[in-house]
Amino acid sequence: MIDVLEYLAAHARRVDEALEEFLSSYEGVPEGLHEAMHYSLFPGGKRLRPALALGACEAVGGAPDMALAAACALEMIHTYSLVHDDLPCMDNDAIRRGLPTVHRKYGEAAAVLVGDGLQAMAFEMLTHVRNTSVARDIAQASGPGGMVGGQYLDVETEGTKIPLELVRRLHRLKTGALIRVGARAGAKLGKGTPAQVSALTQYGEHLGLAFQIVDDILDESGDDDVMGKRTGKDRARNKSTYPSLVGLAEARRLADEAKDRALHALAAFGLQADPLRALAEYVVSRRR
Ligand code: IPE
Ligand code: IPE
Ligand code: MG
Ligand code: MG
Ligand code: MG
Repeated sequence: MIDVLEYLAAHARRVDEALEEFLSSYEGVPEGLHEAMHYSLFPGGKRLRPALALGACEAVGGAPDMALAAACALEMIHTYSLVHDDLPCMDNDAIRRGLPTVHRKYGEAAAVLVGDGLQAMAFEMLTHVRNTSVARDIAQASGPGGMVGGQYLDVETEGTKIPLELVRRLHRLKTGALIRVGARAGAKLGKGTPAQVSALTQYGEHLGLAFQIVDDILDESGDDDVMGKRTGKDRARNKSTYPSLVGLAEARRLADEAKDRALHALAAFGLQADPLRALAEYVVSRRR
């Protein structure tokens, strides 16, 4: 049996070390901006996307270090998306990862720039990977056809009741795209076969949807202290979410169904994919 929390923690340590080194060796950054960027990245959250990248790399027989730079880049992009997501013009949140949000601590302009800076650094880090196909995948997953596009739909549809179909599309973009590309990038960097890359992309696709459905569920039923962010915000902002449209029980069933599809995509893999299986179970059972 895999201890999934230990697995996440072990991969988080490697990623944190690499991120810390990259940030501290980065020259020419004004002190205040450096401090705010560091604040946004550390101590960090679950580090799920890096774990998926490293786990997918291992699942195809690669050494985890082959995917480390891409894993760090993804975490920087994810963190930038959170810093911007919390801004007053978006979700207007005060607490993130158990601490005041970046704009609450350093001001709005600094928070915008922290996000901008993290995104540029992430793509610089990706140049170390020297794999244009992975860099393109990550750019597409982050951009207007991925996370940014999903965030646009999220804020544009706020306050209106939209069909579940559109919520699913929005979730796949705003959250699913970065999760999917984590698994896909790991598979490519671990030198998986085309069939393996495709299977792990499917795994990430379904898991990404499951992840955001559970995020919606936890916003309705989770505990602020455990989550490290405020709950009940989606309803307050009149967002169309899975629980608001179909109820908590059906949302839970749809999250489990997406998780089962993710597991099914791993059918051709042996024991090397057990960490990915455990991560899928974790995504739907987590409380934070
Ligand atoms: C939160 O992501 C934002 C969503 C995409 C739902 P996480 O729940 O992975 O946040 P951290 O990184 O653990 O803080
Ligand atoms: C955020 O979704 C998705 C991102 C791309 C950051 P949410 O707005 O639901 O994330 P939380 O609940 O604030 O973490
Ligand atoms: Mg949001
Ligand atoms: Mg938010
Ligand atoms: Mg949420």
